[in-house]
Amino acid sequence: MSSNSRSPSPEFSPLAFDEDLAPLPQYKTAGTTELDFSGLLGEPLKLHEDLKSGCGGQLWPAGMVLAKHMLRYHRDELQHARILELGAGGGIVGLTVARGCSRLDHPLYITDMVDMESLMQHNIALNDLGDRVRAKVLNWGEPLSQEILDFKPDTILAADCVYFEPAFPLLLQTLQDLLALVPSATIYFCFKKRRRADMQFLKAARKAFTVTEIADEDRPVFSRENLFLYTFTRK
Ligand SMILES: C[S@@+](CC[C@H](N)C(=O)[O-])C[C@H]1O[C@@H](n2cnc3c(N)ncnc32)[C@H](O)[C@@H]1O
Repeated sequence: MSSNSRSPSPEFSPLAFDEDLAPLPQYKTAGTTELDFSGLLGEPLKLHEDLKSGCGGQLWPAGMVLAKHMLRYHRDELQHARILELGAGGGIVGLTVARGCSRLDHPLYITDMVDMESLMQHNIALNDLGDRVRAKVLNWGEPLSQEILDFKPDTILAADCVYFEPAFPLLLQTLQDLLALVPSATIYFCFKKRRRADMQFLKAARKAFTVTEIADEDRPVFSRENLFLYTFTRK
């Protein structure tokens, strides 16, 4: 892929990370991956990956961990939940949930910045999930749209959204806004620590929310990769 074809947002590019980040995500050529999460999905999810719109165009490790966790431990309750994914990239977590639940009582929202909208739409169509999943722009730190205010999400999914320090306060603001909107909501939050500053996000989150490390049989494996999995709820 030529560098000219990339998004003009180098601050959100995996290659824009400092050198102390380890390991850097590899740039892949665009293509479609099939995921069945060790058989947890009967029919595999197809995900098109294409980095031309930004770093969310490829699968990130926390997305894989969170998607599998939701399938393995929460499939039943998710059928009745009002689900919103933040920083969805290609939509891995939300689309996995939509594929894995035998029914969903409410539409499921996958959200990201405008550059990712077409990839989210593409992946919804690729999996024929248009009747269940809506792709929307949701910029962290900005007031929630009327559509999201009316939707009142009670289950928030966020994977690998901790990687760019200037965005930390914006993400925290949106998480706070969502918990103010629905005080009983649960945020499922998975991230990979790549540098010391990432733990500053967690420190701020602990001040703002009740942060709980949640059980997962894969924890010994993903912990070794510096992946963290929590729920955030209102204090
Ligand atoms: C590292 S990617 C993770 C993508 C996906 N959740 C996964 O795990 O594969 C982070 C995502 O956050 C999105 N993002 C970054 N800053 C954002 C902001 N200010 N508002 C909304 N989304 C943002 C990026 O566009 C990107 O898709």
